[in-house]
Amino acid sequence: MKKLESLDQLKSWAKENAFVYSSSEIYGGFAAVYDYGHYGILLKNNIQAAWWKSMVQMRNDVIGLDAGIFMHPTTWKASGHLDSFDDPQIDCRNCKNRFRADHLLENYGINADKWPIIQINEELSKLKEEKKLNCPVCGSRDLTNAKQFSLMVKTNMGSPTNELRDEDVVYLRPETCGAIYLNFKNYIDTLRAKLPFGVAQVGKAFRNEIVARQFIFRTREFEQMEMQYFLHPNDMESKFEEWKSYRWNWYLKELGIREENLRWHKHEKLAHYAKDAYDIEYNFKTLGGFKEIEGVHQRGNWDLTRHSEFSGQKLDYFDQNTGERFIPHIMETSVGLNRLVMLVLEEAWTEEELTNSKGQIDKRIILKLKKELAPIKVAILPLSKKIELQAKAIEVQLSIRGKYMTQYDDTASIGKRYRRQDEIGTPYCVTIDFDTLNDDMVTIRERDTMKQERIRIDMLEVYLDDQFKI
Ligand code: GAP
Repeated sequence: MKKLESLDQLKSWAKENAFVYSSSEIYGGFAAVYDYGHYGILLKNNIQAAWWKSMVQMRNDVIGLDAGIFMHPTTWKASGHLDSFDDPQIDCRNCKNRFRADHLLENYGINADKWPIIQINEELSKLKEEKKLNCPVCGSRDLTNAKQFSLMVKTNMGSPTNELRDEDVVYLRPETCGAIYLNFKNYIDTLRAKLPFGVAQVGKAFRNEIVARQFIFRTREFEQMEMQYFLHPNDMESKFEEWKSYRWNWYLKELGIREENLRWHKHEKLAHYAKDAYDIEYNFKTLGGFKEIEGVHQRGNWDLTRHSEFSGQKLDYFDQNTGERFIPHIMETSVGLNRLVMLVLEEAWTEEELTNSKGQIDKRIILKLKKELAPIKVAILPLSKKIELQAKAIEVQLSIRGKYMTQYDDTASIGKRYRRQDEIGTPYCVTIDFDTLNDDMVTIRERDTMKQERIRIDMLEVYLDDQFKI
């Protein structure tokens, strides 16, 4: 059994199988932006739905929000993004490639996460003096010093470009949580929300990432699924532990990730307002090891305090039971949806060797997705292109397509069609053959075991409901 070994392999497989395409390919591509093909969008939607179900539908203490991507520019002044949402950048003068200086130092065993630029440059100078510092692409020693690079993406929304003044600049949001803080009063006033409660949101975020050569792991346009939990500071520790285990178990139960591929990373260097912060990391073989997928962080009362200061509005909470008035503290869970698509593909992609009836070795690629996440739930395959079989197959498809995402396919041999469905992760293939026309029974084949059984068409929906536990 083989797994994906390199990023290039994943990238070309994802393109060939209509999961992910590079953006604007006919114009030579557009760096760090990706388009999701038919199976990619179905998979992404299923992951998002699983998150929403777990975070909102299954809980009484979390409500939803879908806010605009454009927000009042003062939001980003208050949040600190305009002053300090930077990454240290370094350029190679020879090959003109650009790198994150902290990532470059990592290659030399130095963890420079959140270091000030002066400290980064001191460390780089030491390596330069020792003639150890090389460009990771061309090997040249001709590298610039590191400088800070803002990750904020500007637009001219509402102002003509030729008259754009600094005060007219509007930003594309760099994270989705900002709007959750700005609407705090609305939850209290319109939903009578009582602490502790959370607000969940899924949406696009934009960052001018310096280096984005990691496929959909790090892109300039991406989607976040964030939840901000408002509480009394005395409840923080217990709720933090509860949420950590809730999120961890989601990966195991709902995404089907093996526990040995996950780990916690505790932040040593914290933002000045944060008390404790952990990331969930996944062992991406295609990226060379464990990398962050989700943050579970304590944010104190920084966000509401700052937005209250900058807006002049009171963003506090009155507890009617205790008579206490205070600014709630916040605990957040924040995960990138696109990163989860990559994680799920990497976890599920498997190549098996099978011995066929002639004793030869056949290769089979299977996407061993949890069936609930599969882009196509049921493939409908008439054995041949005979018109009676096609008509019967359409009839079978119509009987279940209202409930299940199906795909009709009557091209190629049945063996090839099974392989195609295995490769995109379809858990069930339903074959309509000549016997079907007499006995109203179809053959249903299961992806992982390849076991086949014959069932009555009028029992197909019940059979599937049982498999999907609907
Ligand atoms: N509100 C907190 C926040 O935005 P973050 O660690 O910057 O924290 C949270 O981002 C998550 O968003 C990350 O764990 C990651 O999954 C995802 N993410 C961040 N930057 C990304 C990028 N450039 N491309 C894809 N996903 C990204």
